[in-house]
Amino acid sequence: MQPKEPMPLSVSRRQLLIAGGGLVVASAIPTSQLWAQEKNEEEKDLIFRTDDPRNGEPKLNDLVHSWITPTKHFYVRSHAPNPSIDPQQFQLKIEGKVRKPFTISLAGLMKFKQHTVTATLTCAGNRRAEFNREGKVGGVQWGAGAIGNAIWRGPSLADVLRSAGVTESAKHVWFEGLDQIERSDGVIPFGASIPIEKAMQNKNLPGALLAHQMNGAPLPADHGFPLRTVVPGYIGARSVKWLGKIIVSDRPSTNHYVATAYKIVKKTDAIDWREAGPIYRFPINAVTCTPAQKSQVAVGNIELTGYVLPSGDSGATVERVELSNDGGRTWVAAELGNDESPYCWRLWKGQLSVNADTKALMVRARDSAGNFMPGRVPWNAKGYLQNSWYRTRVEVQ
Ligand code: MTE
Repeated sequence: MQPKEPMPLSVSRRQLLIAGGGLVVASAIPTSQLWAQEKNEEEKDLIFRTDDPRNGEPKLNDLVHSWITPTKHFYVRSHAPNPSIDPQQFQLKIEGKVRKPFTISLAGLMKFKQHTVTATLTCAGNRRAEFNREGKVGGVQWGAGAIGNAIWRGPSLADVLRSAGVTESAKHVWFEGLDQIERSDGVIPFGASIPIEKAMQNKNLPGALLAHQMNGAPLPADHGFPLRTVVPGYIGARSVKWLGKIIVSDRPSTNHYVATAYKIVKKTDAIDWREAGPIYRFPINAVTCTPAQKSQVAVGNIELTGYVLPSGDSGATVERVELSNDGGRTWVAAELGNDESPYCWRLWKGQLSVNADTKALMVRARDSAGNFMPGRVPWNAKGYLQNSWYRTRVEVQ
């Protein structure tokens, strides 16, 4: 029997097969098998940059179907294997500069008022791979998919801290995960901390949440089951998964992921780490999700879609998204999707005309807090906070 007519390939994948070493593979494997492999690739919910620990991002066109990112397409960023936690035995510890330190079960946390908060999480390393053009950066080689917008549910951090009686000397709130990260200097949990003012904020704007649900279901293991913090407006590294301990302190956390990692440094000498402060808020960012990189496009008008995230500044909203077909000389406005909420992305769509000389399509944005995406972001050693004008290379047919 003849193999079934293959599904048409997306052009970029077909080019991949034809390009360079792909040609060798293509001649060694029967075409029908290649089509099958191709289809599997296209059907994957996440592209895993590393399998152990699990670090995966969705294909960009999976991000623009809905304002709420389906959990299966929500990026996963973990520094160690998922810990396995028995929810019946689970106890969260709250200690440090509080009058009444306590431990509390999941059932106990359910007795607090439950809040539903929609918030975008994004990794500080989103778009990291773009830095490699100027100099190789280490770490998970993220494209632009380390971002997602989800509905989180649980008690507010502020309510739980209030019940412990925060003392006057409290300045920062530390979070500690139950995962075990093997480093050259020993095994440590993932940790984060946020200023006390952010932790206690819950009027008008959503403050931090102790989330046990994501998109209406219990948190999946990859996203921190049974409990995680969600800190709207801050880089994903401050939203600690598999949360085991909260420590109220008079200083920022001494955990590696606050004291050293997640900082902008040009060099990685001790002095550079010490001088740089931890990153908290995420910057404004906008990305074109369709067409994909290296697509073949026809001369004429084409539609673009993508996401735009205002900066994590309090109350910042997206003011304008602009598109360019001539390397940034001229810009036209894109149309913003209706769905909008504090610390959340918006989807956008727009049109650009393509002619025989078009090389790239670009997007940039600005927000109500006066932030805008720059033409270029200075290179930094860890490849964080890449938010320069996003460039989609196209091949005109
Ligand atoms: N929490 C723990 N315990 N361990 C981790 O490795 N990774 C952090 C944060 N919380 C991490 C963690 C980082 S860097 C990010 S970007 C977000 O989780 C990713 O959350 P997600 O995997 O649910 O998308």
